[in-house]
Amino acid sequence: MKTIAVCNLKGGVGKTTTTVNLGAALARNGKRVLLVDCDPQGSLSHWMRCEPRMGDPTLYEILRGQSTAKLAARESPWPGISVIPSSAKLSEIDRGALAGERVLWARMSPEYDYALLDCSASPGVVLNNALTASTGIIAPVQAKGMALRGIARLLELIDEVRERGTPHLQLLGVLVCLFDRRTRISRMVLGQLRAEYGDMVFDTLVHENVRLSEAADKRQPIIQFDPVSRGAAEYAALAFELLTREHRAVGVRSSAPGARPIAQSPFGRG
Ligand SMILES: Nc1ncnc2c1ncn2[C@@H]1O[C@H](COP(=O)(O)OP(=O)(O)OP(=O)(O)O)[C@@H](O)[C@H]1O
Ligand SMILES: [Mg+2]
Repeated sequence: MKTIAVCNLKGGVGKTTTTVNLGAALARNGKRVLLVDCDPQGSLSHWMRCEPRMGDPTLYEILRGQSTAKLAARESPWPGISVIPSSAKLSEIDRGALAGERVLWARMSPEYDYALLDCSASPGVVLNNALTASTGIIAPVQAKGMALRGIARLLELIDEVRERGTPHLQLLGVLVCLFDRRTRISRMVLGQLRAEYGDMVFDTLVHENVRLSEAADKRQPIIQFDPVSRGAAEYAALAFELLTREHRAVGVRSSAPGARPIAQSPFGRG
């Protein structure tokens, strides 16, 4: 199973939109997908129609050691996608430091091809659990002024988590979301991101597309809500790019084993 945290310490950049729609696109490719809502706001649980009923275990119970991913995962209405829901009390974990940072890792279930973890923008115990349970991170960014600083902060956090005992964690890619080619700032920041991070920036761009926010309102992945929309095509392209890069990375690893510096793409090109 590949466990990927969808993470940026900045809010409103497209983390939940990416987790839901990349997950749905991977499921369309025949992958068994688990989505984990690691945000007390519960946007992903709501979007995927998997809000917990009274007494249902959630991520909170997993982190308190009272449940496991296997017990808490529920099937979504869409084939191949299960969800571990969040709940408002998840914020108590951070407030009271009520868990260690490797509880989720120890309680994950291996029966999926992909687990995608929708992180909140707030540092803390819950985010640390998401990162220590993951082998890779996808970082959605908005092509705006602070995007580069945000990625630099995230790389620092990844380094800290690696040093504390999760050495395999790496940035899989930076995903530019809510892109608007008509604005000069979008084009400029995209150029800066590509200059600084090279092929760690996904080739796929997710443009601003109102159908994506409408899909959230209607509580359906974009691929179901409007399969011919630009948003659906771009998240399908992202899934394809991820699968292709992983396929290439297997070749890269087998020919050149060993540690790879964090600022270098784990995939390489060509
Ligand atoms: N490509 C897009 N085109 C249009 N709207 C989008 C796009 N991506 C996200 N949105 C909208 O932007 C808002 C923020 O997106 P989202 O909730 O995915 O971000 P987030 O990073 O998860 O935010 P938070 O930090 O609050 O969890 C939402 O209203 C969402 O519908
Ligand atoms: Mg979110």
